[in-house]
Amino acid sequence: MPSNSAPLSFDIKPNTNPMPETDRLAAFENLGFGTLFTDHMAVIRWSEGKGWHSAEITARAPFPIDPAASVLHYAQEIFEGMKAYRTADGRAVLFRPEENARRFNESARRMAMPDLPEADFLAAVEKLVAIDAKWIPKAEGSSLYLRPFMFASETFLGVRPSKEYIFCVIASPVGPYFKGGAKPVSIWVSQDYTRAAPGGTGAAKCGGNYAASLVAQAEAYAKGCDQVVFLDAAEHKWVEELGGMNVFFVMEDGSIVTPPLGGTILPGITRKSLIALAREEGVTVNEKPYSFDEWKADAASGRLKEAFACGTAAVVAAIGTVKYPQGEFQIGGGETGPLTTRLRDALVGIQRGQSNDRHGWIH
Ligand code: COI
Repeated sequence: MPSNSAPLSFDIKPNTNPMPETDRLAAFENLGFGTLFTDHMAVIRWSEGKGWHSAEITARAPFPIDPAASVLHYAQEIFEGMKAYRTADGRAVLFRPEENARRFNESARRMAMPDLPEADFLAAVEKLVAIDAKWIPKAEGSSLYLRPFMFASETFLGVRPSKEYIFCVIASPVGPYFKGGAKPVSIWVSQDYTRAAPGGTGAAKCGGNYAASLVAQAEAYAKGCDQVVFLDAAEHKWVEELGGMNVFFVMEDGSIVTPPLGGTILPGITRKSLIALAREEGVTVNEKPYSFDEWKADAASGRLKEAFACGTAAVVAAIGTVKYPQGEFQIGGGETGPLTTRLRDALVGIQRGQSNDRHGWIH
């Protein structure tokens, strides 16, 4: 869809009633994921014929929304996940934000929504981080999680792309994604549900993909697991991804296998970065289909040494236990393996400005 290209100018309206510093610092003592929010948000509106307009940084507040707004009925909505970090020398940095801007537009195209020029996406994120910079927590493992999203706001019940959209960025100081912190996670292999089918929306970061995963995720919790893993929709054979994370396998010869992107898997920025880091270490990374039967057999024979999940929110989480209706197995004795640890440390070191940013990933 066409979009205007002159960079937008943002109206900056500081929050006149920000959270008192003592309350903010007290809240930082016990950070979970996605429960605490900063004082501001970035908003840009789109209307047919006018394009993107009314860019502003303003006090975080609810949107008045008409009950007939099309997002409430047909789920025309997309989002991104990214993080701002406070480096040891006091800088506020983003990790590969232009990758999020690009993927956001790929999601937009799949959902028949307008492209947002990458410069405007980046400006919205940067200005929000700048005004809420004191909200970036410093503790190890914590960061300011940024959630850019866009939804169809036209008041209309017909089934067609909306003629109005709201783009917004909110920010949330976060600690570890999993309650168990850095402990290996347990995974339930969904039997009855799939996440995405060929030709569907699996590669888009749209809310509907996550809504469709919730019943399978609830089943995983009921089985005592932290996360669900989905197999492919066509053959129910190939490992695809977790509810909100990509998955990697480390073999005994030191090589890595990860499911290939083929339209049904989210092209994770953490995934892409870890593949690059592993290859630079001389590790062979095979982006190839890997079946659940192979996974079981390789865990039993010892050919599989490590497995881990990765994503912006979760970073890198070792997979210790895998459960399915007929049984369960462990990987690496249920502990975090050495390559998983090395890759996580390499990634986190770059993200937090502790290691040389030789790729220019820090912004
Ligand atoms: C992320 O890792 O940022 C995600 O978007 C996954 C999840 C929190 C929905």
